[in-house]
Amino acid sequence: MQPPQHVFDPFAGVSTTLLVARECGLDATGIEVMPMGEIIWRAKSQLERYDVPELRAIREWIYSTTPGESQRRFPHLPITQYAFDREQEAQLMWYDERFQQMDIGDNFKALLKFILLSIREDISYTSKDGQFLRWDSRSGKVRQRNAKRIANGKMPYKPFHKRTILPVQRAILQALDHIILDVSFPASSTGVNGKQELIVGSVLDAPAARAGLGRCRDYVSALLQSVRLYQNLCLGVGFPRCRPTSHAQPQTKSVELYRGEQI
Ligand SMILES: C[S@@+](CC[C@H](N)C(=O)[O-])C[C@H]1O[C@@H](n2cnc3c(N)ncnc32)[C@H](O)[C@@H]1O
Repeated sequence: MQPPQHVFDPFAGVSTTLLVARECGLDATGIEVMPMGEIIWRAKSQLERYDVPELRAIREWIYSTTPGESQRRFPHLPITQYAFDREQEAQLMWYDERFQQMDIGDNFKALLKFILLSIREDISYTSKDGQFLRWDSRSGKVRQRNAKRIANGKMPYKPFHKRTILPVQRAILQALDHIILDVSFPASSTGVNGKQELIVGSVLDAPAARAGLGRCRDYVSALLQSVRLYQNLCLGVGFPRCRPTSHAQPQTKSVELYRGEQI
């Protein structure tokens, strides 16, 4: 691809596509449904704006300050309940508060938020195993389940002990050290950075799709052409099994949405 072509990633995730596009000097638009995608994108897309001495000063503060504990509750999802030791969780929230109060630029605050997000597994009782999470036997979740099993006359779960659970302060320092190293030796790039935009929302919802696709007219016409081609093929003689029945209508909702916008 060559500028002025525009990269569109409707499932932007952790923004790898957007960031590579930028490195290549291409403008890019992404849509991501997970709000944390935006935190990650904000932190990564400002890489060249991090000043190494300022990062070192932040590191020094973290290193020399004993962490406190916040009274604020961690915003748990059902899957994260009991993922952290109580003290670790209170410290994580404490750092979150302190970082946002620090007298530093918004790009540094975004970076520190990103770090707090990225260390969650390191400081938790969980361990990613493929698509699954393994839970350390010391976690409240496993202990409660085991108690129930024993009360019902069953054997407890096979014990699992995560090898290392990092203290929050150490995990933050470790992540920050990696970043300082990365920022100190930036990867080579074209030197011409493309413009970037990340829309937080579902690509299936009208506002996000409209905003994203509106910037990528060529992409939309290509998409529409392929959808039309696909529909013609499915409705045609060659693919009788794909022919819609009264209960299986073709999925044209999104196509209608874009057509409605007259792109
Ligand atoms: C495999 S990741 C994409 C990786 C990304 N393309 C990159 O370059 O790093 C897929 C992403 O699609 C997001 N996603 C799933 N359904 C979505 C939707 N309806 N609208 C927007 N994003 C969605 C998921 O949250 C996930 O982060």
